[in-house]
Amino acid sequence: MPKTCDVVVLLSGTGSNLQALIDSTRTGDSPARIAAVISNRADAYGLQRASDAGIDTRALDHKAFEGREAFDAALIELIDAFNPKLVVLAGFMRILSAGFVRHYQGRLLNIHPSLLPKYKGLHTHERALEAGDTEHGCSVHFVTEELDGGPLVVQAVIPVELQDSPQSLAQRVHVQEHLIYPMAVRWFAEGRLALGEQGALLDGQLLAASGHLIRN
Ligand code: GAR
Repeated sequence: MPKTCDVVVLLSGTGSNLQALIDSTRTGDSPARIAAVISNRADAYGLQRASDAGIDTRALDHKAFEGREAFDAALIELIDAFNPKLVVLAGFMRILSAGFVRHYQGRLLNIHPSLLPKYKGLHTHERALEAGDTEHGCSVHFVTEELDGGPLVVQAVIPVELQDSPQSLAQRVHVQEHLIYPMAVRWFAEGRLALGEQGALLDGQLLAASGHLIRN
């Protein structure tokens, strides 16, 4: 059994991905341990989920800072007090400064509700429907300085149904997010996943550009 891998989770909202991570680290055989959950919004429901699970929480209001760099510097200080091996963005709706991203290079993961590189940014489900896509999904990737652009670790693909609305699509994508994020975090915690020069490595092998692909 590998050593424990302390994880800090950053979020801004509901925290259903956090809940999936909490549930997966409670199974007893995962080396990942969520050391703290930090939000830029004190009223984020994800903080409640964390404290219900007995996990340390912190809120750091970005509006109290003059600019992104100052907020990110304070955030780094808060995160590093927990000495995590991995930082996980789980619906953290802030653009991170280059300095922040560099500080956590190779140990910063994000989940995004689209099949990247398609639909970076917001309103991904609406955009997939408007484009008439027959497939949609979600992606876990290492964070680099390019927004939603870092090397892909895993993607889950779902078919788009004729009657889908943004809401129904979001719901089915969420189910997949809750499967692939714990999987990627576990790989990292087990020492199987790393960021190499050319991209994401799983068990020492370079992953395909799409990451590990799961088709539904
Ligand atoms: C998730 O769908 C996640 O993919 C998305 O925010 C949602 C958070 O849901 N993240 C992004 O759009 C980041 N660009 P949750 O709070 O229920 O986990």
